Formats: sequence, C-alpha cells, structure tokens
Amino acid sequence: MLDLKISGGQVLDGTGAPAVRADVGVTGDSITAVGDLSREPAGETVDAAELIVAPGFIDMHSHSDWRLFANRRAESKIRQGVTTEVVGNCGFSPAPVSDEFREDMQGFALYVGPGMDFSWRSVKDYLRRYEDDGLALNVAQLIGHGTLRLAVMGFARRAPSAKELARMRSLMESAMAEGACGLSTGLIYAPGSYSETPEIVEIARGAARGGFYASHIRGEGATLLDSVAEAIRVGEEGGLPVQVSHIKTAGRPHWGRVKDALALIDAARARGLDVMADVYPYTASSTTIRTLLPDSALEGGIGAMLGRLRDPAARARIRDEMAHGAVLARGVGWGDIMIAYAPSKPEVQGLRLDEIGRRWGKDPVECAFDIIEAEKGKGYVILFQLDEADLRKALVHPHVMIGSDGSSLAATGPLSEGKPHPRSYGTFPRVLGRYARDEGVLTLPAAIHKMTGMPAARLGLKDRGVIRPCAKADVVAFSPGRVADLATYEDPHRYAAGIEHVIVNGRAVVRGGEHTGNLPGRVLRPAMG
Ligand code: CU
Ligand code: ZN
Repeated sequence: MLDLKISGGQVLDGTGAPAVRADVGVTGDSITAVGDLSREPAGETVDAAELIVAPGFIDMHSHSDWRLFANRRAESKIRQGVTTEVVGNCGFSPAPVSDEFREDMQGFALYVGPGMDFSWRSVKDYLRRYEDDGLALNVAQLIGHGTLRLAVMGFARRAPSAKELARMRSLMESAMAEGACGLSTGLIYAPGSYSETPEIVEIARGAARGGFYASHIRGEGATLLDSVAEAIRVGEEGGLPVQVSHIKTAGRPHWGRVKDALALIDAARARGLDVMADVYPYTASSTTIRTLLPDSALEGGIGAMLGRLRDPAARARIRDEMAHGAVLARGVGWGDIMIAYAPSKPEVQGLRLDEIGRRWGKDPVECAFDIIEAEKGKGYVILFQLDEADLRKALVHPHVMIGSDGSSLAATGPLSEGKPHPRSYGTFPRVLGRYARDEGVLTLPAAIHKMTGMPAARLGLKDRGVIRPCAKADVVAFSPGRVADLATYEDPHRYAAGIEHVIVNGRAVVRGGEHTGNLPGRVLRPAMG
C-alpha cells in the first residue's frame, strides 16, 4: 500500500519533457510508482486533477543559512514550492569559525538572529545544528571564501602567506569531507574582495572532489566580462564546475551585455568546461548596505569601519572614494537606492536615499553613513539598476537556472521586518506565472527544468529534481492558472498564490496552501555520495 497518492495531475517530470497525466505514488521518503495507480490503495490521497505535479523546486542561490535557525518552517520559500535551498552563497557561510576571529564573524554575518551564537567551529558541528531541531526543507551548504579568509586572517587587506593559504585550503577540504557541496566567493565583499585569482584557485582545489565553485563575480558593471572570465579560470585551473551566480549587468551604462557574458559561458562549455549560471526574475538587486562603501573602509573589520565613519577626516575620505566606489561608479543614483531593512530607523524602510535626504535635510551620502552606523553595517538596500531585456536573455539561456538570491523569511515574527526584496517570497511563482504563462518568455516544461533537473545536475543529486520511481519524494503541486507572485517592493511580505501542496522527503509541509508545521528537511551531502 502507498502512503500517499497524488492523483490525476499533469506531471512535469523535471527533465524538460512535456506534461503527461499520471498519478504519483509515495512510500516512506521516496516516489515508488508513477502512472495509472487508480487501483492502488493509499493511506492518503491528494486530488491533483486541476494541478501540475512537479519535482520540488531547488533554489540554486539562497542566503537562508543566516535565517533558518529563526525560521525552521522556511515559510516564504516552502510556500513557493521550494524543497531544497543551496545556501552559503556569495562568500558568506556561518562555518567554519575560528577562536581567534569569532568576533569578526559576528560583524561579517549577513544577519544574526536567535540561535546564531557561533558556538560551533567546524562545518560538521554547524550542520548538525540544522538537523537536531529539524527544518521544513532540505539544504545543501556551500562554504564561503569570505568566511574561510576571516577564520584564518580576519579582515586583513593583503595577500595570504603560504601558511595561511594552506590553512584555508585545508579548511575547505575538511568542509567537503563534513558535507559541504562546494566553494562560493563574493568578490565585491570584504574580505573576499581582498583576494586575487591564484588564492581562489588554490582553495577551489580543496573543493574539487565532488564540489563546485559558485561565484558572485568581481564586477557586474564595466568589468563584467573580465569577471566572468576569472570565474571560468578558477574552474579550469581548480578542476571543478563553475556556477556564475545571479548573472546580470548592473548600471544603465552597461545594460545589454548579459548576452556577451552568456557567450563567454557558451565558449567555455564548447571547450569542455562545465560552466552554468543562475538568475532571479527581477530588475532590482539587493545587498548589504555596507556594500555602498569603498573596499578600503572595511579594512580591519566592521569595528574599524564604524570608527572611520565617526572620525570626520576618515569620513570625508570615504565620501570622496565613494564617487568611484562599486555602486555609484555604475551610474546608479541615490534615487535608485531603497533602504530595505534598517530596524533601528524603521521610518526610512521603503524609502529611497534621495527622499531620505530631503526628509532629513542632509546630503544622501550622509544619510547612508548614518544608517550604516545605526545598523552597525547590517542593514540592506535594494538597487534598481538592472535591465529587463538582459533578464529575459538569461532566463531563456539553456544553461541558466533559477536562484532567488533571497532568504526564507516569514510574514509574521522578526523576519517580517522591513521591506526586503520580494524575491524571497516570489521568485519561483513569478517565473511560472509571469514569464512562462502570461508572457510566454519560456515554456512551462523549460521553466520547471530550470528549477529542478538542471540544479539537481549541478549539485550532483541523482535522486532529486525528477519525478520517477526511486527518486526522493520532494514534490510540488500547483495551479497553472493561479500560480503567481504577490510580493512587491512596497508590500513584500506576501506569500505566493497557487502553490497547493508541497511534499519534502515524503511528508506534507504545505497542504491545501497551508503550512503543516512538519519539519522533514535534511542536509544534503551530494559530494559524499
Ligand atoms: Cu547572493
Ligand atoms: Zn551575490
């Protein structure tokens, strides 16, 4: 007897093949039958006659690792149909942690919620914390290069010594043995930005056994193509697959060049290299507010940065340098920068910096400094700086998959604060509803493949991202007519519509559109087989 039967749905199996009407049978944590199961008895039957049945979505690019301890139900993601999140992206992972630089780790962290005490040291101890108290969805953990650098050399703005480099590589190797799925970099974020390519290649070699290299590349504006080339070089010399994270061209002067970046990826693939990318379906990006500052401002750590902002001479120097800094140099104006999260100054959340300047009677750059100080570098901004045509080019490319770059948030409790980027609530339904159904930019089977089979292949997961007997039972059933993202920049904390049932490892986490409270998620360790 089956434990669960999902009956009568149109099954999109995740391979990109067209839909077939079939029942899906689940026993324990696995799919055990697909086809006409009308004669099979089942403990529970879900009527999917009006629904599409697909493998659970894999969010290839997530930052939920900073929030899952505070949100084990993973509300905003599970309600999009996401059953696995790849975390530890952009150079940031919560482990490993060293005794020496534990304090710096607190400052570096993207978010420090309840349970984020950095009492762990190894990746193994940290991953155990996920499983001990349960999670609604599965996670696969990348190890951040920024985190490794911090553990070994803090916020030092210099090249590592031979000994320090060897230490970073050996931490990477241990992390792989303990369950990580690869290395990530964030080459615009200190201290990762203090590195040069050979350092990254050497650490990447420590991830090469079964892992991949995901990169928030060094520049997404004027230096986009050099930066894609650098990521490819790391893969080639390090001997591992490459994932270009959230591919885009930032800043109006550079719009239109995603096609050139994709051509570099195609050329690398033609040489036999395994290079892919991911994208989120929005034309605004979002990042920590301290990214507005020039790289030099973070030398020595967050405490040193705050000290500089308090010192008038240093503050003036930062101000000068900002004219050439990462963001403003791309032609992004104060009116394009919205404060998304700054809980100590809630009145500015949702406002753009030019408007904040008018309200406070100050230069916008001074307003930005004040908010950075008040938040101790932990606030978030949304940058309206991307091109819709670029986004569509990436969406339809055969080797680009979907990754939200968002986190599991919730519409109630501490994670409902601020005006975060709507991608944390809407990425997957937006691709299915707006881009596939409404605008026909891509077909529904292709869209599903980019959320399931394609990321599973990147991760080396042989038993997920597909509907077939013996695969693990991560399944989503959604209404093709109603699926839609409801979250907006003004009103972001809104769950998606049309996601009816979500099953993780054979257990229902969403049933009839409501969270069941079940926590059947696991840490996936693809590299360990
Ligand atoms: Cu990211
Ligand atoms: Zn990033």
